[in-house]
Formats: sequence, structure tokens, C-alpha cells
Amino acid sequence: GSLRESVTTRVAPKAKSAARILPEASYKVAVLGAAGGIGQPLGLLIKMSPLVSELRLYDIANVKGVAADLSHCNTPSQVMDFTGPAELASCLKGVDVVVIPAGVPRKPGMTRDDLFNINAGIVKSLIEAVADNCPEAFIHIISNPVNSTVPIAAEILKQKGVYNPKKLFGVSTLDVVRANTFVAQKKGLKLIDVDVPVVGGHAGITILPLLSKTRPSVTFTDEETEQLTKRIQNAGTEVVEAKAGAGSATLSMAYAAARFVESSLRALAGDPDVYECTYVQSELTELPFFASRVKLGKNGVESIISSDLEGITEYEASALEALKPELKASIEKGIEFAHKQQ
Ligand code: NAD
Ligand code: LMR
Repeated sequence: GSLRESVTTRVAPKAKSAARILPEASYKVAVLGAAGGIGQPLGLLIKMSPLVSELRLYDIANVKGVAADLSHCNTPSQVMDFTGPAELASCLKGVDVVVIPAGVPRKPGMTRDDLFNINAGIVKSLIEAVADNCPEAFIHIISNPVNSTVPIAAEILKQKGVYNPKKLFGVSTLDVVRANTFVAQKKGLKLIDVDVPVVGGHAGITILPLLSKTRPSVTFTDEETEQLTKRIQNAGTEVVEAKAGAGSATLSMAYAAARFVESSLRALAGDPDVYECTYVQSELTELPFFASRVKLGKNGVESIISSDLEGITEYEASALEALKPELKASIEKGIEFAHKQQ
């Protein structure tokens, strides 16, 4: 196929029909935290998208050079740079999708929750600007701890009177990307075919890969299930330790975030067959936020797929119960933070 098709297929392997129904580049995407470890490769991958007309890059520093550099790629989108709070409003006006990877990453020995004190405030201030300038946009939150930063964002949007639960997403795509990779490796499967739903949240045991729901259907021994589940749950820490103080996953994260952006743009463009796992407001369990597969449409979450949680194994069912107290506490911590700041 053409470069267009191959780029689209690679970033979003699920969309077999997408290339045929894609419209011209017409969407505006903003990245907040665009000069960072995730922001830079994510900017590059979004610059490769045939669906994007404007790529708006925002950071508190160093974004001019990143934008100048990316702007030389001969792909359709125009690249624009915005530095510091005074330029944030113009960055956001009229955008269709806002991706937020702003914030500090982990160092060895830290949990994602250890980032709360710094990142909660960063997410809060960015979401206030989103609420004021592009309340209709799809909002993709990457900044950790995602289990808490998404509830914070929801509360801030509520306070501003513009909360639309169908358009606020915690990006948990990397968990699916990792699960697909590790399962394919372990079972000798062709990667392009493997799809593992990952539910719950995005930290430690709250990350629950539903290996029994892997497509195509695969069987695992108890030992394999245990080993794969733990590896998927600890994959972020695996990278943090390998980077030894220089940060956490950036390249695989950018790949995963670009896939989620591309899926969102395809949904906006009317593709009727777009499914992704993501951490959203949900009634699937008693928890107010929960990651699961959702169907994406023009208005955001079109439906939450409940069938993945039906007929799960005993191992998965007990892991699901075990993750609930931690996820609940992280959600409540976020909500409480947003209320205290009012
Ligand atoms: P980084 O430090 O390399 O980059 C962060 C960027 O955010 C920097 O350029 C910084 O200037 C910018 N920033 C800080 N405050 C800002 C503000 N108020 N407004 C705009 N930009 C601001 O970090 P990174 O490796 O890119 O990671 C970013 C975040 O993503 C971390 O919180 C990390 O834990 C998280 N993360 C999430 C996932 C996931 O699966 N959801 C995966 C990897 C990393
Ligand atoms: C990841 O899963 O890689 C991210 O959440 C970053 C981290 O701190 O592990």
C-alpha cells in the first residue's frame, strides 16, 4: 500500500477498513507537555497521521525547537508551538483532541502514586484551560497516576460546568500494547492478530489483563497466566528500572498514545468499528472509573463493552476483587484533591 495506508495500519492495527474510508486531513490535535520524553516522539507519530491538519505543541519550555524540527517533515499537518500559560488558550481553541503527557515521571523505587503531589496540580491547571477553551474536545490523560488524575480532571470539568464523561479518557493503551506483545512472544503468535483486553486501572495490581479473553483464543497454563499477568502489571517498573533514574517508558508510550489518538480521529471521522481499552467513567463495576474496552464514536464513548467481564476465570475474578480497594482509594484521593482546591 501507499505510505499513508502503511502508517495508519501500523499505528492502529485494528482498523483494517480505516484507510479506505479516511477523509482528508482535517483534525486539530494539541499535545500538552510536548517537549518531554513522551511528548517528542508522540509529536512525531501524530505528525505522520494522514488525519491531522494542525499539530499544536505546548510546554512550559523547549517547545520551539521541537516544533521547528517536526515542521520539516513533509506530511500534511501544520505544526504550531505554544510556550507557557500565556499561550495555552490559543493552543487549545478549536482543537478536536487534547493529549496530556505533562508531568514528572517515576524513578526507581517510586510508585505512580508518589507522583501525585506534583502531577495532580499540573493536570488540574491544564484541565482548567481545556474547560475554558475546548470543552468539546476528546481529552486523553497520560500523566500519572492515571487512576487519580482522570477523576481530578472529571471534577475540574464538573466545577466548570462542562464535564462530558464520554470525552474524558485515561490512556491505558500501553497496557494493551504490552499484553499483546508479551502474549504473542510467549505463544509464538503473529503479533498483528493478538488482542488482549486489559481492564481495571493503570498501576500495579489494578492493571488486569483478561488473558482468557485473548483473541484469537489461546489457552494458558496457570503458571503462564500468573507469569504473564505479573509481567504486564510490572512492565512500567521494568522500564523505570532499566532506565535507572532517567525516567519511565516514553517511546512505547508514544506509540500507544498515537494509536489511541488515531483511533479517536477515526471515530470522529465516522468509522463505525473503533474499539479501545481506556480508563473512563463507567458503570461496569461499583467503581465510578474503570478501564475496559469501549466503542468509540463521533461523540466519544458510544458504549462500554461489558462482555469481557462475563465468564472470566476464577483467577481473573479474584484479581478483579483484589484490585477494587486500591483503585477506589486512588479515585477518592483524586476527587478529594479537586474538592480541596475549590
Ligand atoms: P518528562 O519529564 O520527560 O516530560 C514531561 C514534560 O511535561 C516536560 O517537557 C515538562 O516541561 C512538561 N510539563 C511540566 N509541567 C507542565 C505544565 N504545567 N504544562 C505543560 N507541560 C508541563 O516526562 P515523560 O516521560 O514524558 O512522562 C510524562 C508523564 O507521563 C509522567 O507523569 C509519566 O508517569 C506518565 N506516563 C504515563 C504512562 C501511561 O501509560 N499512562 C506511560 C508512561 C508515562
Ligand atoms: C508505564 O506504565 O510505563 C507508565 O505508567 C510509567 C510508569 O511510571 O511506569
